[in-house]
Amino acid sequence: MKYYINTYGCQMNIHDSEKIAGILEELNYHACSKQEEADIVVFNTCCIRETAEQKIYGHIGMLKKLKQAHPNMLVVVCGCMSQQEGVADKIRTSYPFVDIILGTSNLNSLKQAVLDAQRRKCCVKVDFELYNEEDFVQSRTSYPNAWVNINYGCNNFCTYCIVPYVRGRERSRPLADILTEVKKLLADGYKEITLLGQNVNSYGHDLPNGEDFSALLKSIAELDGKFRLRFMTSHPKDLSQEVIDVIASYPKICDNIHLPVQSGSTEILRRMNRRYTREDYLSLICKIRTKLPNVGITTDIMVGFPGETEQDFEDTLDLVQKARYSSAFCFIYSRRKGTPAYSMENQIPYEVKRERITRLLACQNDVTKQISAEMIGKQFEVLVEGANNHYKNTMCGRTESGRLVNFKCDEQMTGQFVTVLIEQAKSATLWGKIVTEEE
Ligand code: 5AD
Ligand code: SF4
Repeated sequence: MKYYINTYGCQMNIHDSEKIAGILEELNYHACSKQEEADIVVFNTCCIRETAEQKIYGHIGMLKKLKQAHPNMLVVVCGCMSQQEGVADKIRTSYPFVDIILGTSNLNSLKQAVLDAQRRKCCVKVDFELYNEEDFVQSRTSYPNAWVNINYGCNNFCTYCIVPYVRGRERSRPLADILTEVKKLLADGYKEITLLGQNVNSYGHDLPNGEDFSALLKSIAELDGKFRLRFMTSHPKDLSQEVIDVIASYPKICDNIHLPVQSGSTEILRRMNRRYTREDYLSLICKIRTKLPNVGITTDIMVGFPGETEQDFEDTLDLVQKARYSSAFCFIYSRRKGTPAYSMENQIPYEVKRERITRLLACQNDVTKQISAEMIGKQFEVLVEGANNHYKNTMCGRTESGRLVNFKCDEQMTGQFVTVLIEQAKSATLWGKIVTEEE
């Protein structure tokens, strides 16, 4: 029997899909590359923006015919979209061929739900449960990198964001459990560990024994062997000097921070409930760069939040130039039902949002080009990640600062550290050649 998983959204979902794959493999399903050939099709969904959601509904709808042709095929919808209020009912009514609907905290019910569905019993479960990572065998797909959850959920309630409603309150995994998982991954040959959380910097606030994010970073970075440690996402209000100092003291922790700013206007940040000002943010960037001169900082930025004036937007453009991000994920604000910003006045017309995002992308592109040009002629240690399927016979990997580099080498070198000389830069993409291989 075969399975096919459609994954939408962020790294959290990519990693959840590895857990889903592990559960299905325990039930003797094998991965296949075409949805049409699958005995079970999973939609691991995202609802952060309306466009993502509409696309997913379209994709689920397209399965109706396939299911008619293969009545024994099972269809699962899980992840953030199904956790939203009323969505499970909507799916039951509009897409009755869906067999299983699970929320973000119900993966521990997947195994039984599949067994029941094989006997034609539907399952809908979208309540918050606590599950143990340790209960799952994961089927990892991202070697040489391994994703590791450290905390789930979010308590920040940014006024535009649906995540706290669909992923629940913050829960941290015990440090000892995370350490056991990481040790096993390193013993299995993984070369890069990426710690995942909606807000990694608040890791441990809910744990009884004072374990915090810097303690976690230290205890992993002190493990033996050559490997890289990364983490995402950091909330600017919680990134402490202590964490910056720990990154600086441990070479295994990459000088690479994803630090979503969202807006460069203090007034918009206030209405987003981000709890920092433009000045706080810029001074944090300054602190980071003082301690970590080679750091790569990336960000998320939104345009068209309700009430955003031309001046607010220009403040964002100005901040982008000052912060010098190596790259930025830029989004058009999307109205999410159930969030405070949904009912704010002065929603921005779509044409204005479009025009602003075009200007923002051009502005960031100029910064990225400048940073890339400065890298030409320099050498960087790169972890070979695998083939870059956009180009023929090309492999790729990342610098410590997180920049993607393309180069030629044998596919078997995946998982090795090499030194690459940067020869060319085409906007965000760097091209180079290997000058030294791992001993
Ligand atoms: N509209 C647009 N972008 C959003 N994000 C979160 N909520 C919304 C929304 N309603 C963006 C933020 C966040 C990233 C993961 O998605 O920039 O950092
Ligand atoms: Fe959403 Fe804000 Fe939480 Fe990030 S910190 S998940 S943007 S509410």
